[in-house]
Amino acid sequence: MKKDQDRTPLFDAIREYDARHPAYFRIPGHRYENGIDPKFREAVGDEIFKMDLTETPLTDDLHNASGAIKEAEDLASELWESDYTHFLVNGSTCGNQTMIITAANNGQTVCIPRNAHKSALMGLTLGGGRPVYIMPQIEEEWGLHGGITPAQVEEMFAKYPECRGVMVVSPTYYGITSDLEGIAKVCHAHNAVLMVDEAHGAHCYFSDLLPKGAMQAGADMCVQSIHKVTGSFTQSSMIHVKSKLVDRSFLEANLHLVQSTSPSYLLMASLDMARHDMAMRGAQMVDDASRLAIAARAEINNIKGIRCAGKELEGRAGIYRLDETRLTISAAQIGIRGFDLKKMLFDEYNVDVELADYRNVLAIVTFANKKEDLDRLVDALKDIAARFKDGQPLPPARQLPPQPEYVISPREAYFAKKKRIPWAEAVGKVSAEMIAPYPPGIPLIYQGERMSQEVWDYLEEVRQRKGHMHGPSDVELNTLQIIE
Ligand SMILES: Cc1ncc(COP(=O)(O)O)c(C=O)c1O
Repeated sequence: MKKDQDRTPLFDAIREYDARHPAYFRIPGHRYENGIDPKFREAVGDEIFKMDLTETPLTDDLHNASGAIKEAEDLASELWESDYTHFLVNGSTCGNQTMIITAANNGQTVCIPRNAHKSALMGLTLGGGRPVYIMPQIEEEWGLHGGITPAQVEEMFAKYPECRGVMVVSPTYYGITSDLEGIAKVCHAHNAVLMVDEAHGAHCYFSDLLPKGAMQAGADMCVQSIHKVTGSFTQSSMIHVKSKLVDRSFLEANLHLVQSTSPSYLLMASLDMARHDMAMRGAQMVDDASRLAIAARAEINNIKGIRCAGKELEGRAGIYRLDETRLTISAAQIGIRGFDLKKMLFDEYNVDVELADYRNVLAIVTFANKKEDLDRLVDALKDIAARFKDGQPLPPARQLPPQPEYVISPREAYFAKKKRIPWAEAVGKVSAEMIAPYPPGIPLIYQGERMSQEVWDYLEEVRQRKGHMHGPSDVELNTLQIIE
């Protein structure tokens, strides 16, 4: 029977508890609003603090849900079309860790895309899975990572028939999806699970203008940062499961492993309410957001010297479909790097976009944006294009080096004895550190891989121009930790 999506069980339980206003001898110590710094309270108001509760008799327990939280999770499960769903209070980061540990551990093989978020590496480190990597194809014109294809996954299984699961990031930050239906078929033919990092895709279930969601496309598990694309608080996410291949009790044990024993009721209530909002108004609002973004894209593409990537990407570089609410904008034709465009938009026009890479900036349009926001973005771009109209096109970004040799697993490398050596001596050594220059934000080397000359040369160039790098403990990369 269909559930009543107008219910808000966790929110209601919290309000009911507040209405009773018991003499309070539990954690948290602030005892509702009384113990809050007056300046903070004045700025925020009282109500939010009254909702910052714990596992009272009315408010259930995330780690063994059977009451209000369970009902809230079941409502979310229905809305996002899973068999069952769990709320997450440590972001999609802990969801990705859980998926990977559940699919493969202790030397079992798991396939990870090379553009995976670093939480995937954490999952490998915690669980001891043995990764085989798939490199998404590169879309040369925009310098973006494209999709993973079913053929690539089939090829991987031919080499590693023992592989127990495949992770795919879909949609990516830039809204690029892979052919999940095709990949799910390949995985299931090999009795392996498809795990989708859908951190950026919870809204896809609500409009035909967007790509299909992972649960709709046959994935076994997916993780969504509800906070990234709908109205919940930062750090609140969900994991959805729809599969006969996933061991539910093991997955739930792994969730205990990676989450706090004091989960925030503010985060969980915000998940309940974001689900409610999406159920009530989501379809209309996501549709409106898509149309706003599509209209803005057309306007941006009419500005001489500036371009916004669109549907023409579909079919190239493994790109299955594009989520058009992501606006990838480039002023490379008039010589402006993405980093500089982002800075200029904020400093000079008060327009703040999500991220920049060498060629592009990325603006995320959600159901909460108004046309006025997009008008301000378009007007700023028009002005910039006029100011820089004589600029010369940027040279293409440098090609990424080939994947280095795998020597030991990320977990073995993490716990191995290490020593620090001068960066200049690193070629040929097994790195104890992951290094991901940003952009593209893809690790060029993982812990446990051998430093090749090509990877060293690429990183050296980033180091020389003081580019930003994720991973190394010496941020200037004058030294590197290696496995002894
Ligand atoms: C693709 C992808 N996966 C996972 C995450 C982690 O999500 P969260 O911030 O919800 O922990 C991010 C964060 O940016 C991401 O971009």
